[in-house]
Amino acid sequence: MKIIILAGGGGTRLFPLSRASFPKQFLKIDGKESLLAQTVRRFLPVVAPADILIVTNKDYRHHVQTELAAAGADAAHILLEPVAKNTAPAIALAARYCIDKLGAQGDEVIFVSPSDHVIQPADAFVSAVRQAAAAAGQDRIVTFGIKPTAAETGYGYIQTGQPFAGGGLVAESFREKPNQATAEKYVAAGNYYWNSGMFAFTVNRFFQELESFQPDIHDLASLPYDAALERFDEMPSISIDYAVAEKSGRVVTIPLSLYWNDIGSWDAIYDVLPKDSSGNAIRGDCLPLECRNTLMLGQSRLIAGIGLEDLLVVETDDVIVVAHKGESQKVKDLVTILKAAG
Ligand code: GDD
Ligand code: MG
Repeated sequence: MKIIILAGGGGTRLFPLSRASFPKQFLKIDGKESLLAQTVRRFLPVVAPADILIVTNKDYRHHVQTELAAAGADAAHILLEPVAKNTAPAIALAARYCIDKLGAQGDEVIFVSPSDHVIQPADAFVSAVRQAAAAAGQDRIVTFGIKPTAAETGYGYIQTGQPFAGGGLVAESFREKPNQATAEKYVAAGNYYWNSGMFAFTVNRFFQELESFQPDIHDLASLPYDAALERFDEMPSISIDYAVAEKSGRVVTIPLSLYWNDIGSWDAIYDVLPKDSSGNAIRGDCLPLECRNTLMLGQSRLIAGIGLEDLLVVETDDVIVVAHKGESQKVKDLVTILKAAG
């Protein structure tokens, strides 16, 4: 099995800590280890470092090298995209690398993982990966499903049906990022799962799905690796979810019964951090006086709060963001306004 870790996204939903030059996967949310290093370490009980590929943007090379060293996985391969084309071309390029440079055969299983999620505990995850590999070996596109707790519009939704003989459930349909009304319908229906963003399939099945649904990507990724990299800018920009998962009739979903959080907002960060007896999550130099259920993340200065409740306070060298709990999805609007203002 080969593990492809996607680490080229440039999300800014955790602004001001994450920036285009330093996105979420490189953040040390727990103050100790970056999300990328945690992701790499999660796979070390399953494969050797030399079977792990990190696909990232050329601008992040240094960050990735640092995090691989931190995870004790210097032997992992780093693939550098000249331009960001979203996840389908990134995975296609890495699959070509597996074939040309690592000798992967058509029946070898590839497991694709984002690099910016919190998943616990490690041993339950390892068994789920092994289960996914077994189902992928039966010529399926395997995803991990998370039982939805809200009508989130930032996730893909998988409608599940009968059990699949090789493990998991047959996916009847896959819908990437539905609108609010559709998401509400899906959650009420009961047989829909959030897509966790992880995929497993064989090399052959992946190329066959590309050939059927994304012939441009298929043809470029069928060139020898160096030529595919050279012509990477010709790839269409599309995520694996729209490119393959929504279209394939061979999706199988394994429900994950462990803690999964894609850390998409400051509210999510509050949720994953340990709290004091008043429900405050504190990191850095902070003084919460009679504060409750508040997140304080300090980088360079003391944050002192009095009587704060249900707030999110994030301080960096140049920006301080203060938001009400439940409002942090709007950080992306803030970033849009700042970008427009130059
Ligand atoms: N190499 C590379 N190149 N990686 C990329 C690129 C790219 O151009 N774009 C994104 N990534 C990486 C991100 O760093 C992240 O680790 C992963 O690919 C997923 O990209 P996101 O941009 O975070 O996707 P998403 O959160 O909007 O949606 C996906 O994940 C959800 C769960 O968190 C989808 O798979 C949804 O269906 C899913 O619910
Ligand atoms: Mg994401």
